[in-house]
Amino acid sequence: MESTNQHCMILLVLVLILACNVITASSASPASKRFHFNVEWKQVTRLCHTKSLLTVNGEYPGPTIAVHEGDNVEVKVTNRIAKNTTIHWHGIRQYRTAWADGPAYITQCPIRGGHTYTYKFNVVDQRGTLLWHAHFSWQRASVHGAFIIYPHLPYPFTPKIQAEIPIIFGEWWNADVDAVEGQMMYGGGPNSSNAYTINGLPGPLYPCSAKDTFVRAVEPGKTYMLRIINAALIDELFFAVANHTLKVVEIDAVYTKPFSTLAIMIAPGQTTNVLLTTNQAPDASGMFPMAAAPYLTSVFPFDNSTTLGFLKYKGPKSSDKNTKPSVVVPNLPKMTDTPFATKFLNKLRSLATPQYPCRVPKAIDRRVITTISLNLQDCPQNQTCKGYAGKRFYASMNNQSFVRPLMSILEGHYKNFTASQLTSTFPERPPKEYNFTGVDPLTENMNTEFGHKLLVVPFGTNLEIVLQDTSFLNPENHPIHVHGHNFFIVARGFGNYDANVDPASYNLVDPPERNTVAVPVGGWAAIRLKADNPGAWFIHCHLEQHTTWGLAMAFIVPNGPSPSQCLLPPPDDLPSC
Ligand code: C2O
Repeated sequence: MESTNQHCMILLVLVLILACNVITASSASPASKRFHFNVEWKQVTRLCHTKSLLTVNGEYPGPTIAVHEGDNVEVKVTNRIAKNTTIHWHGIRQYRTAWADGPAYITQCPIRGGHTYTYKFNVVDQRGTLLWHAHFSWQRASVHGAFIIYPHLPYPFTPKIQAEIPIIFGEWWNADVDAVEGQMMYGGGPNSSNAYTINGLPGPLYPCSAKDTFVRAVEPGKTYMLRIINAALIDELFFAVANHTLKVVEIDAVYTKPFSTLAIMIAPGQTTNVLLTTNQAPDASGMFPMAAAPYLTSVFPFDNSTTLGFLKYKGPKSSDKNTKPSVVVPNLPKMTDTPFATKFLNKLRSLATPQYPCRVPKAIDRRVITTISLNLQDCPQNQTCKGYAGKRFYASMNNQSFVRPLMSILEGHYKNFTASQLTSTFPERPPKEYNFTGVDPLTENMNTEFGHKLLVVPFGTNLEIVLQDTSFLNPENHPIHVHGHNFFIVARGFGNYDANVDPASYNLVDPPERNTVAVPVGGWAAIRLKADNPGAWFIHCHLEQHTTWGLAMAFIVPNGPSPSQCLLPPPDDLPSC
């Protein structure tokens, strides 16, 4: 079976090389935008703890990249630390430019200390808010920032926007993040963060942090666009602003049918644009608090604190310095409010107009069903493991725990699939049918398999992936992110997916289009995409500890038949391993 696959791959690679030799660079000449990122340490103090924080250009959060739809983007990344790094442009489709996607060992070898790599890509047919972040180890804890794409056409919503307000959520650890990650070497979970942050600032509910509070002045009677980004490492968040409703207009750089809500749920890797109208009567402080706190579905220890920032209405009333602003945000859901999260996510719909059509595949060529699960592994002899029952925690998709190879999968695929020892044998069904979300499927998830088996789908495949949570150890809401493609969330549900029943209720008209789906706790989500972007693409849980434990896989899309559907040749400065 395997060797047949490999022969097919050799053929595919040959076809790809023949079809693609004739490629020349695109002749269109859109604007070029150039940026320079220095990855460097910086002394930063929060919560009365000073530490060396990994940053881009000394900024935390990092610099905003703002471009226009259609622009060519070049970001020269210089690694000024004695460790490896890479940067990922989360949600940018990277059509034909997989070399610039960024995940270490998937599309490139890391940029070594002292070295430079220039990421070059176009931003095509996408508009709105995304993020960029480091994609090596746990560096994205502090190496992240906003990626804003201004549209060609006017916004498809009203009223007029007075100004934009970036709201980037993060997590702060007093300890070194490498040390937090290192704890997981002993098979246990990571220590939870010490604070959540809004634009790098924890806010007044944390020790020593009153001065480290995000405050934004606004004019009364105007409408602002909040570009909300969850760059937290391991927590899904609720967000609300006291007294104000939020009108959702865009998610993951795709317009949605607008709707109003008192709060949003946003998972790591997701972005949400909301409109906020300053139509409330402020008290003497002039301040309205905004808050983010975790949406909690796990029994593992977690950071249950709340980060606060403020909108400060301009005007005569706000001059009273003696009035303390309220720090209560009554419309923030409780941390365990799964019904709220479910209702909120169910309201998200693609705009689906002639201008912004919803291109959901109506029929599929292939359905892959995969568990997304935690696992337990026997502790190696002579070691002490800190996971449950003296064992080690892992995580997997269909009981495959992804281990990164010591090479770039994309390079291996591009150069010679067989010599690179990559195999296209990712199982397309769970190894065993059982009651995934039942009470105690304990033994089914013992001792997962380690490796990096790939899923290979022909170019143009209409692919459905059903992501099935399991209650092994702990059912949990997992934000699953797909690189290189947006997808459509055609259905979500609780319990076990049923291929005979559930497809009947799919939304094939205006399902939300995203790059990261929050799979319901103890449930499943069905996503569809057209695999039309040649390259090697990572799929993984955007809760960083789960990626570390192996809740990830990669899939390969070979070149398409026409030269304009082929992966471009690797850039000259592509790092080597
Ligand atoms: Cu936002 Cu693979 O990451």
